[in-house]
Amino acid sequence: MAAAGQDIISLGTGEPDFPTPDHVCVAATAAMAAGQTRYTPTAGTEDLRLAIAADAGVKAQNVIISTGAKQVLSNLFLASLNSGDEVICPTPFWTSYRDIIKFSGGCLVEVACPSDQGFKITPQQLEAAITPATRWLLLNTPSNPSGAIYSLGELKVLAEVLRAHPDIWIASDEIYEHIAYTPFTSVRTAMPDLVDRIVVINGVSKAYSMTGWRIGWAIGPEPVIKAMSAVQGQSTSGTCSISQAAAVAALTGNQALITSRRAAFKSRRDRVVASINENPLLECILPEGAFYVFVSCEKALGQIAPGGSKIADDMTFCAYVLESVGLALIPGRAFSRKT
Ligand SMILES: Cc1ncc(COP(=O)(O)O)c(C=O)c1O
Repeated sequence: MAAAGQDIISLGTGEPDFPTPDHVCVAATAAMAAGQTRYTPTAGTEDLRLAIAADAGVKAQNVIISTGAKQVLSNLFLASLNSGDEVICPTPFWTSYRDIIKFSGGCLVEVACPSDQGFKITPQQLEAAITPATRWLLLNTPSNPSGAIYSLGELKVLAEVLRAHPDIWIASDEIYEHIAYTPFTSVRTAMPDLVDRIVVINGVSKAYSMTGWRIGWAIGPEPVIKAMSAVQGQSTSGTCSISQAAAVAALTGNQALITSRRAAFKSRRDRVVASINENPLLECILPEGAFYVFVSCEKALGQIAPGGSKIADDMTFCAYVLESVGLALIPGRAFSRKT
């Protein structure tokens, strides 16, 4: 439709519309001028690993840098899953988790978390989903697509369950850490006695508007970081040298932009959520973080659109919105939810 000249607004890709901060771009240019254009160590440059480690209170050996958080997740599951190992994942979840776990040989165990529980897994649900084959619990806080943030108290009760299952590891994708409108607690902070089986995934893509620079990282126990590094060493090697220098500038430079951009995202969220909830056929809960709104179209199902077509499911609903107003949305099934 866009190629045919129609004015389409696409909400399909999860990236901030703000530019990468100027001082980050300047640092990248300086890195090039200084000749930082060669292979980097597989697990990342010392500067970047140290910057991340210092912030997290760990050693550089507990950090690996990869080509975006997406590669971090791929490395993690390729390095740690044997065929048939299970990964428990609350739904709705970010669309890539399913295929990353699948091509790593694992089995995704979906746990449906409805909006009335804030799209979050309860300790009872977690306990019920655990089997002898469970290897990982994969959390995403703040969540794409729901915006849900696990509070400190919610993480502590999940930790009680996990404490009784010492073979289960916890992966926490915290890429939206800085886009939080209620207090954010890292899983590492909430479960300090379990840090030797926690891997946190993060990156600069969202907080610093650096989606194209492709820098993500994991913080975790040294053996798992080494295993991830072994996978990366035979696939993509060390991440782009210039992007790593830029990421150091992002992490160690002025952080004021994070606050002002968060405020902008919050006011957009409030406006969008209010207008969605004015429509009697749509509803959504207030996202606590990230920049997504996970809208239920359940009440619209069975309606006949003005053009005569029936809104039968999430796909036909999104097709109707696209064709009638030129707004491209992602159907819920991409996040494991059909309404
Ligand atoms: C929950 C979640 N994790 C990871 C990523 C990937 O981040 P990156 O661009 O750093 O690979 C995204 C991007 O949309 C995301 O929403």
